[in-house]
Amino acid sequence: MTSRDKILSLFRSHPDAFISGQEISQQLNISRAAVWKQVELLREQGFEIEAQRSKGYRLVDGPDLLLAAEIEKGLNCSHLSTTLICLPELDSTNARARQLAEEDAAEGTVVIADRQSAGRGRLGRCWESPSAVNLYCSILLRPQIPVQQAPQLTFLSAVAVAETLQQLYRIDAKVKWPNDVLVDGKKIAGLLNEMNAETEQIHFVILGIGVNLNMSTEQFPEELNYPATSVLIETGQQVDRPAFVRALLQLLDDYYGEFLQQGFVSIRRRWETLCDMMSQRVSVDNSMFGTVVGLDSDGALRLQLDDGHIERVMAGDVRP
Ligand code: BTN
Repeated sequence: MTSRDKILSLFRSHPDAFISGQEISQQLNISRAAVWKQVELLREQGFEIEAQRSKGYRLVDGPDLLLAAEIEKGLNCSHLSTTLICLPELDSTNARARQLAEEDAAEGTVVIADRQSAGRGRLGRCWESPSAVNLYCSILLRPQIPVQQAPQLTFLSAVAVAETLQQLYRIDAKVKWPNDVLVDGKKIAGLLNEMNAETEQIHFVILGIGVNLNMSTEQFPEELNYPATSVLIETGQQVDRPAFVRALLQLLDDYYGEFLQQGFVSIRRRWETLCDMMSQRVSVDNSMFGTVVGLDSDGALRLQLDDGHIERVMAGDVRP
């Protein structure tokens, strides 16, 4: 955890109270001058911090940033969150996680940013990433599984996101092949998994997860080419973002452990239960028609065509 995060976490655990420079310097084991420097940096980042010579520092106001210390409270993971990196801004958490992976970062490293200046979506699109409202997160995994099974992890993250939304907010979140999470046909989360592998061996997989939490209707760009929503829009309630991240990481950790031990079977079953197109007649790219009958182990969608034979769909736009 950075000194900045530690100071913010100290302020948040003493709401409205002054904390002396001496106490901060002792708790963080840094000099008084270093404390002052961190306070100045926080001010530059938009935090209003009052300073009084006799009393110390007090956080008056500031952006609602995600802090590692708050997320870690009560988190009990076996595989994930070995290192939790929370930053105010990145170009893309996936890009940063990839960089860390190439520098040999450990499995389970989690990168979170409060804002992304170049958030990446699927098919080369941008992912709208305004400050302090949503979750933009990338998780580094190094699974010892055959390369062809790597797409299964996309379904694992879709299931964990949809179930966390259901459990915490009673939102009827569904999954849509290949990797969307929708509420009433509107996109609430997007997943972008990236892999680095040779023919036989996976070096790493990055699970990129973006969830619209406290984003208001006005914050969505008008030119968005799909309908979108957020937890705030669906429930009318502000989300406690650290609580959401904690619950999501915990569930991802459980499912990843289960996946490593038992394979894809139970994740696939959960995904099929959450998929509202199961057993429905759909079109793929408006050119192929059939009934969705399930998911294959390599992530292909199984479609039963009118002549009865099963077609495996690897790519395309699937619509009811
Ligand atoms: C999609 O197009 O549906 C996928 C969107 C994925 C967005 C997330 S936000 C965190 C991570 N970092 C990125 O740059 N993209 C993913």
